[in-house]
Amino acid sequence: MTDDGNTRPRATCRVCGDGLEQFLDLGEQPISQAFVEPGADAEEFFFPLVVGVCTGCAMVQLLHDVPRDRMFHHDYPFYSSSSQAMQEYFAGVAREFLDTDLTGDRPFLVEIGCNDGVLLRTIKDAGVRHLGFEPSGGVADVARARGIRVRGDFFEERTAKEVCAAEGTADVIYSANTLCHIPYLDSVFRGVDALLAPDGVFVFEDPYLGDVVAQTSFDQIYDEHFYLWSAESVQATARRFGFELVDVRRLPVHGGEVRFTLARAGRRTPTPAVAALVAEERQRRLSSIDTLRGFAANVARVRDDLVRTLTDLRERGRRVVGYGATAKSATVLNLCGIGPDLVEFICDTTPDKHGKLTPGQHIPIRPAEAFADPYPDYALLFAWNHAAEIMAKERAFTASGGRWLRYVPDVHVV
Ligand code: TMP
Repeated sequence: MTDDGNTRPRATCRVCGDGLEQFLDLGEQPISQAFVEPGADAEEFFFPLVVGVCTGCAMVQLLHDVPRDRMFHHDYPFYSSSSQAMQEYFAGVAREFLDTDLTGDRPFLVEIGCNDGVLLRTIKDAGVRHLGFEPSGGVADVARARGIRVRGDFFEERTAKEVCAAEGTADVIYSANTLCHIPYLDSVFRGVDALLAPDGVFVFEDPYLGDVVAQTSFDQIYDEHFYLWSAESVQATARRFGFELVDVRRLPVHGGEVRFTLARAGRRTPTPAVAALVAEERQRRLSSIDTLRGFAANVARVRDDLVRTLTDLRERGRRVVGYGATAKSATVLNLCGIGPDLVEFICDTTPDKHGKLTPGQHIPIRPAEAFADPYPDYALLFAWNHAAEIMAKERAFTASGGRWLRYVPDVHVV
C-alpha cells in the first residue's frame, strides 16, 4: 500500500524544476531494507519505482519519493563495516583527508550518514575533530560505542546551522553512499553553505549513472537511491547552489561510483578530470532519453533471462541459494517476481536480518553458515559489488562443484 498522494509520478525535477521524462518502470516495490518478521500481519508498504531524467539539468531521479522515516530509523539494518574490504577502503579515504584537507589549525570533518563509523574511526584515532550525522539509531549507537561523535539527526539546513553555531565551520563535509538518498538537495546545499569553511570541500561518493548504464546494473535503483549522479548533473546542481565541481574520481567500489568534490564557486581550480568526464558523458550521450530507453530495454532483457534461467534450474531439480540480502536484491526480486520457489533462502552475515524474510517476495534470510550446510548447486550473487571478497572466501563452494550465478552485466554462470 502506498502513502496517500504518492500515486502520481513527479512531472518536474526535484533540483531545477524543469520537466522530467520517464524512461524506466521497475514496478511496485517495497522498502528495500524493510525485512519482514515471519507471521507478521502488518501490511507492507509498496511504492512505484519509476525513473526519469530532467530535460534541463540532466539529473536522473525517482519520480516518487518515500518518506525518509520509513527508510532510516532505529532498526535500519545496514552496517557499513560488514565488508572487510570496505573497512580498508574507508580507512584509506580517511587517511587521504588527514593528509590533505585536514592539516590546518584544529581541522573539523563532518560526515553526512556516518553509519557505524567505518570512516570516522580513523579520523577519531588521529585525534581530529569530527561529527557524524546519523539518523538511524542502531548503527549510530555502534559508532558511539567506538568513541565517535554522532548527532542522531538528518543533515539539513537547520541542523547544519546548529552545528556551525556550536562548533564553527567544517573543513570537509563528506558523505559516502548517502547523498543520493536525499531528495531535498536544496536544504542540504543550504546546510553545506552554512557550515562549510570558505575554502572547505564538500565531497560525496555514490553509484555513478555511467556505470549503471554501461553494466545494466538496474539493482542500483531502489527507494534509497533517489538520484543517479553524472558529472553533468552534479556540475549543474553545484552551480545552482553557488558551488563548483572541482574534481571527480572514478571508484571501483560498490559496482562503480564517482567521488565528486565541490568547493565554493571560484575558490579552487577544477582538475582536468572534471572536463574529461563531462566530455566523455556528452560523447556517449549518457543522459539522452534514447540512451536511457536503451538501458531500460537491457533491463527487460536481463529480467527475462534471469527468470528463465532460474525456472530452468528449478525444473532440472537444482538448488539455488541467494548470497547477500542486499538492498539491491529487493529491486531484482520484486521486478522479476522471484520468490522462495526459485531461491530457497538468502544467506547474509548481518545478524539483524537473520530469521526474517525479504521485503515483498518473502525469501527467508539465514546466517552465512547456512550456505555450506550443505552447499547449493548455484549461488545467486546479490552482493555482486563485493564479488572479489566473497568469491575469495567461498573458494570451497566452487571447489565442491558449486557455481555462481550472476546477472550483472548480463545473466551468466561462473
Ligand atoms: P551492500 O551491497 O549494500 O554493501 O550490502 C551487502 C550485504 O551483503 C550486507 O547485508 C552484508 C552482506 N554480505 C555478506 O553476507 N557476506 C559478505 O562477505 C559481504 C561482503 C557482505
